[in-house]
Amino acid sequence: MRLAVFASGNGSNADALMAMAITRGTPYEIVLCVTNRPDAGVIDLSERYDIPLEVLTHDQTSDGQAILDVLARFDVEAIALAGYLKMMPVEVVKAFHHRILNIHPALLPSFGGPGMYGMHVHRAVIDSGVRWSGATVHLVDEAYDTGPIVLQEVVPVEPDDSPEVLAARVLRTEHMIYPMAVRFLAEGRLLVEGRRVRILDHETPGTEDDIPVATS
Ligand code: GRF
Repeated sequence: MRLAVFASGNGSNADALMAMAITRGTPYEIVLCVTNRPDAGVIDLSERYDIPLEVLTHDQTSDGQAILDVLARFDVEAIALAGYLKMMPVEVVKAFHHRILNIHPALLPSFGGPGMYGMHVHRAVIDSGVRWSGATVHLVDEAYDTGPIVLQEVVPVEPDDSPEVLAARVLRTEHMIYPMAVRFLAEGRLLVEGRRVRILDHETPGTEDDIPVATS
């Protein structure tokens, strides 16, 4: 499966996806990196992994046809949003129906939606008093963080956690489940039934041993 990775931030999830992509037997390849920020971590990664890069201008991020044109140039078949902080235009969501994944650093449907990104999420989780947080991979629909859930994994919220400490714990889990979810999509194993996603032949969520070693 020809995958495009969209990322605006540090790029650690993009790195995890790339590390998995070059592991033997992985059923997806990353054919394009897209960012909207000239300082995004994915820029270095695209060089290191030798993957073409597109930096979108502010106007292009909301121009569905412009994004579709870029994706068509690279024969992209699916998209992974990895800390991409722009709303994907509706034309792209429609053209890639159930072919766009996103990762969110909490257990959706809690702690999602507009404004819930980065440390805002982890601060809200800690302030709410919940004992567990985690990571969610979901299919992207036309709103923020509302699409059908593919994989979730929990982590404990410890009494003295700062948002940063909790974020780091959640991030380790993200790096484990995101490549796995992309693999399932590539293998055609995601069966979407309304809001529920059945993963064909899926038994266990995996372990830390499944994480390929990222380069940074
Ligand atoms: C991750 O926490 C992800 O869940 C969220 O944005 C963050 C991106 O981190 N969507 P990184 O850039 O992949 O390190």
